[in-house]
Amino acid sequence: MSLQPVDDFVPPYPERHLTRPTLVQAIRLFRRSMLDVWMKGHFSEDLFQTKILKRRVFVCNSPDTVRQAFVEQAEIMERKTPQMRYALEPLLGDGLFISEGEMWRRRRRAVAPVTHASRMHELAPVMTEVAAEWAARWQALPEGTDIDALEEMAQMTAEVICRTLFGRALGSAAAETVVHAFSTYQARIGQTALGAMLNLPDWLPRLQSFSTRREARRIHAVLDKLIATVLEAPPDAGEASLVRAMTALQSMEPWALRNEAATLFMAGHETTANTLAWAWYLLSQSPAAAARLAAEAQTVLAGRTATLADVDALPYARAVIEETLRLYPPVPMLGREALRDTTLRDRFVPQGSLVLVVPWLLHRNPKLWDMPDHFRPERFLESAPPRYGYVPFSIGPRVCTGQQFGMVETVICLATLAQGTALRLRPGHVVRPVSRLTLRPGDGLPMTVHPA
Ligand code: HEM
Repeated sequence: MSLQPVDDFVPPYPERHLTRPTLVQAIRLFRRSMLDVWMKGHFSEDLFQTKILKRRVFVCNSPDTVRQAFVEQAEIMERKTPQMRYALEPLLGDGLFISEGEMWRRRRRAVAPVTHASRMHELAPVMTEVAAEWAARWQALPEGTDIDALEEMAQMTAEVICRTLFGRALGSAAAETVVHAFSTYQARIGQTALGAMLNLPDWLPRLQSFSTRREARRIHAVLDKLIATVLEAPPDAGEASLVRAMTALQSMEPWALRNEAATLFMAGHETTANTLAWAWYLLSQSPAAAARLAAEAQTVLAGRTATLADVDALPYARAVIEETLRLYPPVPMLGREALRDTTLRDRFVPQGSLVLVVPWLLHRNPKLWDMPDHFRPERFLESAPPRYGYVPFSIGPRVCTGQQFGMVETVICLATLAQGTALRLRPGHVVRPVSRLTLRPGDGLPMTVHPA
């Protein structure tokens, strides 16, 4: 298959090293952003191995090794990395995202169904409502108004997840407080996570995480109050609430419910915000793609706000989102700690090794993708992505439970907004992809608003 670039636009990526960085350099690079450590050759290697101090690290970068590690050996690989666990345990406790074993199985049964595809008809109206509010606000702005597209998308997706978690009125009132509390927490966890990754003594990250725990307690207090209010209110037949839906499936202790509410907020907020922000950036650099998207949205929607029923009729909007998730996967590294000795292909993997699937590498592996660094949404219209070679939502039993939610939300919001508005990058601004926990276009995305 030969892909002719429509816009010939290669979006930015960090320098790919030609020689191996020293350990000290690698740590410095990793601290800045986990995207910055990779060598050019890593992108096309199927399986490679490195060592961080005493810990062995295996990177699966081909469909067969991804399948082996995350599907066939899912049980051995069910534990998240110490980095993830240290970073998120104070906030999520035994929440689904970081739990394992019987606890994970039990919680998965309570959490997965509430955002299942079959419930989208209840949840999508909230997405449509929020998209309509944003479209109206943007259209009222004078042409050329400065906005921070990352911040805008973060606020919009916070409204969606808070209104679906806690119900419309309560969620809307709480969105700002919840976002603020979570972002303060995230700003604190970088150091702790790195210590655990490097296998430093247990007490060191714990000491560092003192202030992290204080932040987590603040978030817990906010969530506990919201959840209590949701559960006290009489059930409103027209009102979708994920919190209420979870309690209907399983009897859960208040702290368990809070841990899962925190998990859903954390997993479902920044991921969708970053996807939409990256999509706006990519479109701003690709006039042909932006024009095709606007034309599709105008034809299908004819001035309306997109609903769930429109999603199948918006294939180009979907392709833009899929291509954005390929180039800038919000979770660019999926890490596991091997629970037992095992093998990957013919390599011995000792217990305790870190086993990584790195969508950042896999999604740009030149053996799997034609013109891997180009932005070309059409590729998703022309053929299906390689099985086990495209994993923005992970794969195997721990696959994202919010995949449908995230896809429907981003397509509804993007199509609705792109119908009337085009965003341009503020002249002179240089976008640099950075990833600590999630992959973001730096700390902000200054853009200006224009009619589509
Ligand atoms: C574009 C949007 C999204 C992306 C790219 C994304 C990506 C991911 C990835 C990669 C994982 C697995 C992490 C790992 O294996 O280490 C994951 C897990 C998870 N996601 Fe998402 N996600 C998105 C949206 C959502 C939404 C909207 C929700 C909920 C409303 C959600 C809920 C979850 C949960 C609960 C898990 C943990 C599943 C488990 O461990 O069993 N995600 N997500």
